[in-house]
Amino acid sequence: MQFGEKCCCKDKISSSTKCTKLDPAVCLELQKIIEAIATSGKGLLACDESPASLDQRFQELGIENTEVTRCAYREMLLSADKSQLSRYISGVILHHETIYQKTSKNVEFVELLRQRNIVAGIKVDRGLVPLLGTEDEKTTQGLDDLWENCIRYKKEGCHFAKWRCVFSISERCPSQLAMNINANVLARFASICQSARMVPIVEPEILNNGEYDIDRALRVHEEMLSTLFRTLNEHHVYLEGMVLKPAMVLSRIQKPTRCTPQIVAEYTLRALRRTVPTAIPAIFFLSGGQNDEESVLNLNAINMHDDKKPWRLSFCYGRALQNAAMKIWKNNLENINKAQVIFLERAELCSKASLGELQFGENETCTRNTNDIF
Ligand code: G3H
Repeated sequence: MQFGEKCCCKDKISSSTKCTKLDPAVCLELQKIIEAIATSGKGLLACDESPASLDQRFQELGIENTEVTRCAYREMLLSADKSQLSRYISGVILHHETIYQKTSKNVEFVELLRQRNIVAGIKVDRGLVPLLGTEDEKTTQGLDDLWENCIRYKKEGCHFAKWRCVFSISERCPSQLAMNINANVLARFASICQSARMVPIVEPEILNNGEYDIDRALRVHEEMLSTLFRTLNEHHVYLEGMVLKPAMVLSRIQKPTRCTPQIVAEYTLRALRRTVPTAIPAIFFLSGGQNDEESVLNLNAINMHDDKKPWRLSFCYGRALQNAAMKIWKNNLENINKAQVIFLERAELCSKASLGELQFGENETCTRNTNDIF
């Protein structure tokens, strides 16, 4: 599918639609982009880590972190077997740096993706900053020149953009202030992004690193998501033209018997059903530090669950797609093929999980290794 072409805007959406001030042609363009990225059996690869975030991961594996090695690493991922990659991955979130880099064959990364029928996207936030007036909570910066940046990225061939805000769970967090401010930041991002004809990937990440049980996680997801959608509506964000990228409802302190994929699915779907309008076309989960096996089993259980699911439910994974391949690659030319094979295996598992096609017994726990199963 090609984007950027002139859209026919005669039909479907009237410009007087209550929830949007967007031109109908823009609404149709956003819908077309979503159709391309929310294809059945496919998901998104997030390889938009900042140099600082990659630093820790590269360091652990003894990989030098330079512009050249980051480029070589991303080339390894994105030049994996064309037909397999595009069977499982519909879109890739890139980092600003990657947009202006080229492969060893002198091809721009956005062009490499276009040749593979994969839609290019871009991370547009500028990272976390302290939210003053709170107990160490965070908000996300980058709104000031967002519109100009989106226009530029659209010209470079990116058709969707991601913005991440984070929330921690503790006795007093997330505070009402953090929820209100971050919901407003995400809604500002979404409306600016849509006006630049890019689909916003709205990422309110509830971090899975505190000492709370899964019932508390459920309550926080519900509260945060309902604040977020109320705010998106107040900003007249065109819901049919955006994608939600949430965390799953998890608890790392829960005993394995209370944190089976079936329970994660049950809780996650309950939170979504209670708060996310059916107008939202797709929900792509982040992996958020789940190990490779959990990320696949939990997504599979969500898609196997009998509950009503009015949205496409798939993956937008960073670490859960890349971890194994990065460990093998280690910036060694001889390891490229093997790393690509492993990366494609992970993408295939995630693809099957997005269809709920993996089979596993009722008693499996989050910690069960997928290697035992498939
Ligand atoms: O913003 C977070 C990334 O896009 C997703 O990363 O799957 O490693 O949590 P993750």
